[in-house]
Amino acid sequence: MHTTVGIIGAGPAGLLLARLLHNAGVDSVVLESRDRPYVEQRQRAGILEQGTADVLRAAGAGARLDREGLRHDGIELRFDRHRHRIDFPGLTGGRTVTVYAQTEVVKDLVELQLTEGGPLLFETEALAVEDATTDRPKVRFVQRGAQGGASGRESVLTCDYVVGCDGFWGVSRKAVPTRVSRVFERTYPFGWLGILADVPPSHDELVYARHERGFALLSMRSPVVSRLYLQVPADTDADAWSDEAVWDELERRFETAPDDDWVLHRGPVTAKSVTPMRSYVHEPMRHGRLFLAGDAAHIVPPTGAKGLNLAVGDVVTFARAFTHFQSTGDPALLDAYSETCLRRVWQAERFSYAMTTMLHRPPGATPFDDRIQLALLRRIATSRAAEQDLAECYTGFPFE
Ligand code: APR
Ligand code: PHB
Repeated sequence: MHTTVGIIGAGPAGLLLARLLHNAGVDSVVLESRDRPYVEQRQRAGILEQGTADVLRAAGAGARLDREGLRHDGIELRFDRHRHRIDFPGLTGGRTVTVYAQTEVVKDLVELQLTEGGPLLFETEALAVEDATTDRPKVRFVQRGAQGGASGRESVLTCDYVVGCDGFWGVSRKAVPTRVSRVFERTYPFGWLGILADVPPSHDELVYARHERGFALLSMRSPVVSRLYLQVPADTDADAWSDEAVWDELERRFETAPDDDWVLHRGPVTAKSVTPMRSYVHEPMRHGRLFLAGDAAHIVPPTGAKGLNLAVGDVVTFARAFTHFQSTGDPALLDAYSETCLRRVWQAERFSYAMTTMLHRPPGATPFDDRIQLALLRRIATSRAAEQDLAECYTGFPFE
């Protein structure tokens, strides 16, 4: 098999890249190790920056997003029984975000790829990227049978270019020699226990709560499905938490002033899982004709809702650079790919780190640490400049 652009991974990065290239008349092949139901059901975040929603619409993948996505003009910060709303359009000259689950973005892009795009091979695991520094890089892969056994036969996909969109645990990053790799990372001593519940959200916008017992987040998937998270120790087993215990703890952490009649509504929990938290960046994001995009190159803690949006920024940057090269023969934008993406990646890493350390109470936090967190939150609540920084970062960095 040969293709112009070999794409490893059918998450948001790989699927959107395939769509962008298809729309530009560039052929690609997507290799995805899991099956379609698994890829479409994986619970992830659900916040689209203004730029992400615009890219999906321009790529022809915005119809259901416009029907079902929920436009949000702000979020609430809750701390020390205080509630402070951040007004996105008022602080950013009109930018907002859209609540639309990553699972839905993936379903929309899978459908487009299968009906209009090039090959999307599920249950097809890339084993290695080889010859990345030649003009004929290749991906060795194996197609698993429906039973997922090792019965699959090994094949090779030769490419003009390979884009690794295979997430943090993929193989593409391994094709970058350690002598040129630089890794920057921070792991956190806590994670998020997340639940889905069949109950209307208790607030019409997201609520980020900093509490002495730990962080809590109220989000949603639709007007009748709530998505909520609790900060828990990093090694927490989700099954160790009963549904009632989760609701009780959420209620404690969302506490408001005595005269405030806000109530956390409960309902049947339909999913429960623990997400670890890590900040991670691999530099460079290119090696020869291998390009890295999305979680294959960087990870952010979910506090800033940046993961999906960064993946979008990377593949938009690659698609623009590649089509520019194809139409002009000028490789300058391709040569600048890594630096261009990393400028945006590091801004998102800084914002995600700042939101995480401001809102989570780590084990061993001292009274000094607590006062610094409250001072940071009070600064945002009383300074338009501080609010503006948060609103600009949350609604998204412009694509270069
Ligand atoms: N061969 C083929 N596919 C692979 C391989 C492999 N060796 N390894 C991983 N994959 C697939 C995974 O099954 C997954 O479907 O690559 C895909 C990577 O998708 P994501 O992990 O979703 O990464 P990305 O597309 O960059 O999107 C980032 O997803 O994980 C969230 O929080 C993250 O919101 C962010 C977004
Ligand atoms: C979500 O809805 O899953 C979500 C929202 C905001 C975040 C993280 C996750 O910061």
